[in-house]
Formats: sequence, C-alpha cells, structure tokens
Amino acid sequence: MILLVGCGKMGGAMFAGWRAAGRDVAVVEPDAAHHPAGAALAVADAADLPRTLAPEAVVLAVKPQEAAKTLPAYARFAERSVFVSIMAGKSVGGMQALLGGSARIVRAMPNTPAAIGRGITVCCAGQGVSAAEKALAESLLKTVGQVAWVEDEALIDPVTALSGGGPAYVFLLAEVLEQAGIANGLPAELAAQLARATVAGAGALLDASSEPPATLRRNVTSPGGTTAEALKVLMDAPAWPALMTRAIAAATARSRELAG
Ligand SMILES: NC(=O)c1ccc[n+]([C@@H]2O[C@H](COP(=O)([O-])OP(=O)(O)OC[C@H]3O[C@@H](n4cnc5c(N)ncnc54)[C@H](OP(=O)(O)O)[C@@H]3O)[C@@H](O)[C@H]2O)c1
Repeated sequence: MILLVGCGKMGGAMFAGWRAAGRDVAVVEPDAAHHPAGAALAVADAADLPRTLAPEAVVLAVKPQEAAKTLPAYARFAERSVFVSIMAGKSVGGMQALLGGSARIVRAMPNTPAAIGRGITVCCAGQGVSAAEKALAESLLKTVGQVAWVEDEALIDPVTALSGGGPAYVFLLAEVLEQAGIANGLPAELAAQLARATVAGAGALLDASSEPPATLRRNVTSPGGTTAEALKVLMDAPAWPALMTRAIAAATARSRELAG
C-alpha cells in the first residue's frame, strides 16, 4: 500500500501511473472532488486514516507552503514507512524537523512533463534509507518519467534550476522564435505554428535519437548556409552559452535562498 498525501496535478499523475501498475493507493486530499477513482481509500484528512494503516511509502505531494501544517500528522508512519517528497525547496533536514529526526526520506525533484509521463525526477536519499526503499521510491517515480539520483543534497539546487525550470525555458524558446518570425515578416498565425511545431518536433527528434544534441545541430547546419549564419549569432561568446549559464546560476541561487 502506498499513501499519497496531496492529489493535485503531480500527485494525480503519479496516482494514475501507480494504479496502471496495479498498486494499492490510499489518498489524503482535502478536496473530495480530487479523490481519484480506483483509490483503495480516500480521506480528507490524516486524522481520518485507519490506525492500522501501514503503507510501504508515504508520498508527500502537497505544496511546499503546506508542509509545516501537514507533515506532523504523518510522523506516526516514520518507524515503518519511507517518505518520498516531491515538494520543491524542502530539505531532508527541514522535513525531519516536522516528521521526526529518524524519518527516512527520499527528496525528489520532478518536472512538469511528468503530467504526460515524460518528466525527469532527480532524487536524493536521506540518512537511513535502505537500498530496498530507494528501489521502491525509484519505481514509484518512474511512472511519470525518467529517474536519476544524486548523493549530495546540495546538487538539488542546480537540478531545480536545470530540469525543474527547464520546461519554462523551452516554452520561452517557442515564444521568442514566434516573435522573431513576426519581426522578420511572417504572418503571426504562421509564425506561432512554425515555432510550436519546430520546438516540439526537434524535441521528439532528440528523444528518438541516440546522438548528442551537438551532432543533431551539426546535421542541420550546412557550412556557409542560413542556419550557420543564425548559429554564429546565437553561439557568440556573450550570447546563448553565457546567458544560459547566468540563468541557471540565478535559479540555483534562488533555490538555495528558498530552501528550508
Ligand atoms: N508542478 C510541477 O511542475 C512541480 C515540479 C516539481 C515539484 N513540484 C512539487 O509538487 C508538489 C505538488 O505540486 P502540484 O503542482 O501537484 O500542486 P497542486 O496541484 O496544488 O497539488 C497539491 C494538492 O495537495 C492538496 N492538499 C493541500 N493541503 C493538503 C493536506 N493538508 N493534505 C493533503 N492534501 C493537501 C491540494 O488540495 P487543494 O487544492 O484542495 O488545496 C492539492 O490537490 C509541490 O510541492 C511542488 O513543489 C511540482
């Protein structure tokens, strides 16, 4: 039995994957309209859970700002269950302060393509988490995409900056491509269609290929051709490479500031 705390966008996506894999899932979610079909049990509050409930894992998928008032009610599971948290910015130590110092916690950072099973989640296991508990956490998170692990929790900040925020940067690419098309004379509707299809198609091509992105880029760049001219501008020293490094550094610094 898995206990899911918070069945919103992320929790709901994970729930669907677990049910498809035949897992029994109990859900705590205040909004009865979000109680999913197929739950072994769905209640509005931790106090409504049966005293005998002994889940293998308690998955924390509430908003980080709800953590302080939500987590203490789950401290009673700390002896038997591993906790898997997808709350952004909540450190293992911060969660142990709410769940008990010996709580075994896997801190995970997913991203929004998880909603369609195409996310990537980076995990870090806190003290005392066993190999079997890590394997369980990985199998739970794999239902919404790929899973990677880091040993050092400090790496979750640059992970948050890169893959956590990454989908937003790719959507921004589609926006600026559209604007640039319009600025160069394309009708707005066609520019939007081209930008969207190009970002989506290039992503699918990258996904389908085993080549590194630099090889795929070279494959569409004829020497002396039009793409080469654009790449000269984009890959100029103060342009994209430096800009992206600055953007990821800014997001990493903000993630550190917000950590608690
Ligand atoms: N979305 C992302 O891309 C993303 C990426 C990385 C990490 N995360 C993390 O994933 C977590 C969930 O995000 P989300 O986008 O799925 O948010 P969400 O859609 O708002 O889901 C949170 C759910 O938790 C419920 N909830 C609130 N208080 C609760 C309580 N005391 N007990 C049980 N359930 C409670 C909420 O119910 P009500 O609506 O009734 O309040 C809501 O259904 C966040 O911590 C976020 O940091 C999200």
